[in-house]
Amino acid sequence: SGIALAMIIFAYLLGSVSGAILICRLAGLPDPRLHGSGNPGATNVLRIGGKLAAAGVLIFDVLKGMLPVWFAYLLNIPYFYLGIIAIAACLGHIYPIFFHFKGGKGVATAFGSIAAIGWDLTGLVAGTWLLTVLLSGYSSLGAIVSALVAPFYVWWFKPEFTFPVAMLSCLVLIRHHDNIQRLWRGQESRIWQKLKKKR
Ligand code: G3P
Repeated sequence: SGIALAMIIFAYLLGSVSGAILICRLAGLPDPRLHGSGNPGATNVLRIGGKLAAAGVLIFDVLKGMLPVWFAYLLNIPYFYLGIIAIAACLGHIYPIFFHFKGGKGVATAFGSIAAIGWDLTGLVAGTWLLTVLLSGYSSLGAIVSALVAPFYVWWFKPEFTFPVAMLSCLVLIRHHDNIQRLWRGQESRIWQKLKKKR
């Protein structure tokens, strides 16, 4: 339907607004695409700009995934389209039309869309990310492990959303190929080092 298509386009455009690039620009911080890991995301802003800027980026990028799905749900758009809308938001973040199609890794935005499904699921996925990061010290490993298990959680709670969530997981995992190589070689930087370097 027309409204569903409009929401898909809206989700992609909103997803294309990079929280990291925007907030760093507004806060007078270095361009996250040129510093640290080069990734325009909350983790890298933590590395180059500190906790407050990183928290802002995280909230902004989570909302990009959450709001379009919520709006679409309130507009009674069929479930099938909710998944497409979530994927569109994530694709916007990863391939932003406003930034030469060079965006982030989609972790916060995919999480936002999954969080829109329900609070139990939100807690499980966030808990998995947090536990992995606390145990390993790697933000990227938190994202990788969460992406791997999220489809199973969704399959358990809301099976009708398993396929779109699996698609989101694939996007996130594909975007972490560099991190996977660094982790494998033992060259990935830990989140604590990032914080220490800053202070
Ligand atoms: O959220 C992205 C994170 O998983 C990895 O970011 O900057 O360490 O490559 P980064």
